Formats: sequence, structure tokens, C-alpha cells
Amino acid sequence: MIKGEILQLRALEKNDLAFLHELHNNYKTMNYFFEEPYETTRELEDLFEKHIHNQTERRFLIQEVITGHPVGVLSLMEIDEINRKCEIDIIIHDKFQGQGFGKQGFVLGVKYAFDILNLEKVYLLLLPGNTPGMKIYEYVGFKKECRLRKEYFVNGEYVDVQRMCMFRTQWVRQRGRLQCDVGFDSFVAKTVARSRRDVPKMPPEAVPTMTLMEVVKAA
Ligand SMILES: CC(C)(COP(=O)(O)OP(=O)(O)OC[C@H]1O[C@@H](n2cnc3c(N)ncnc32)[C@H](O)[C@@H]1OP(=O)(O)O)[C@@H](O)C(=O)NCCC(=O)NCCS
Repeated sequence: MIKGEILQLRALEKNDLAFLHELHNNYKTMNYFFEEPYETTRELEDLFEKHIHNQTERRFLIQEVITGHPVGVLSLMEIDEINRKCEIDIIIHDKFQGQGFGKQGFVLGVKYAFDILNLEKVYLLLLPGNTPGMKIYEYVGFKKECRLRKEYFVNGEYVDVQRMCMFRTQWVRQRGRLQCDVGFDSFVAKTVARSRRDVPKMPPEAVPTMTLMEVVKAA
């Protein structure tokens, strides 16, 4: 589990599949995933069992900290231990979109990839017209990497897809700013301030960027 001030990510459980079923059968949402909005409960259950020991992916429920209410899902996929990279994607249920949950949930997912899985690169694919997605990824520090021409068939036509990525070095530079915004637990932040109230809105260059190992070595 990884926790922010408002949202947390926890491993997706079998009893979350009804919520996933709703998301995966939403036509608009699945267009943004380049997938067909057609998945039965049985298929989801089979996939869940099949992937239970699959170390190349992590599937999370995004839920509110206080109520435990699910608002979306976030996945880290194609986790590649040799080349230390993975793909990330996020869905916020359309009932909860536009309330900042996408932004906060995404930050927690990126933190998991870099600070827990110790990856070097995280990448994603998005439709160039996906404005909320683009805003979130640029806010976190993702950069455009390349454009894949006519990569997917969406809503009756082949469409270009933007690939974006973030490297660990960029994450380390952005982590302090994002920690202040999302309030995730951070050993680094705790060495700076005892409580979240004491964490000022610092410019990125003023925020310490030492890793846990560097802090331990320096001690
Ligand atoms: C993309 C998605 C995750 C965004 O989640 P969200 O909770 O709605 O996003 P947020 O509320 O955190 O808003 C993020 C930014 O987008 C903006 N935004 C939200 N909805 C918007 C809309 N309909 N049009 C334009 N901008 C919008 C917000 O104002 C915010 O920008 P700001 O920080 O500059 O104010 C969500 O819309 C979704 O699940 N879409 C379907 C699946 C999808 O596209 N996933 C990503 C695939 S790459």
C-alpha cells in the first residue's frame, strides 16, 4: 500500500472486480485505452487468477483514505527487471473525474515505480486529444518521447499515439514538490519537517533530493 493525504493505492483484490467491470465496460474510458469496452465478470475473474503470481505487473485500486471508497485503478505493466522500466496507466471512474483524483493517484503510482520497484524509466501511451491525461503527465514531469503513427484503431479510424516517459533522475528532482502537493509518506520529507504542516511549498531546487541510501550513508 502507498498512501497520500487524500488517496491511497492498494493491491487490487478479487472483490474489487465488480468495480473494475464497470470501468472496463465504459465505452469512452476504453477508447482512451485503445481497447474494446467488452469484458465479462467471468473473464475478469479468470484473468485475476491467471495473473496472481505475475511479477511483471502491479494492479492497484485507488481509494479514498478516509472512506475507503474506490475512485479508480492504476496499473504498472510490462515491469522489466533487466532494463528497469515499466508502463503505467490510470483510470478514474467517470463519476469521480475532474476532482483532482487522477493527478494524485498518478503521482502515487509513479512514486511506487521509482521508490519501491526501483525502476529507472516509466512510460505511457496516450491519445494526443486526451487533455486531462496530458495535463497530469506534464504536471508530474513526463516528457514527450515519440509519436507512434496510426498505432491503434479507435472509434472507426486509426489514430496516432503519443508516448511519454519519465526517468528516475527527473523523478528525484520532482519528488519534493510532488510530496508537498500529494502528501505521500516520504523518509526524505520527514527528515526535513516533523509534520506535514511544517512542509512549506518550496521551489523544486530548494527541496532536498537525497535518496534513502544517501541519507543513511551521510548519517
Ligand atoms: C485522464 C484521467 C485519469 C484524469 O483523471 P481526473 O481525476 O479526471 O483528472 P484531475 O481531476 O486530476 O485533473 C487533471 C487535470 O486535467 C484537467 N481536466 C480534468 N477534466 C478535464 C476536461 N474534461 N477537459 C480539460 N481538462 C480537464 C484538470 O483541470 C486538471 O488540470 P489542472 O491541474 O491544470 O487544473 C481520467 O479522465 C480518466 O480516467 N480518463 C479515462 C481513461 C484515461 O484517459 N486514462 C489515461 C490513459 S493514458
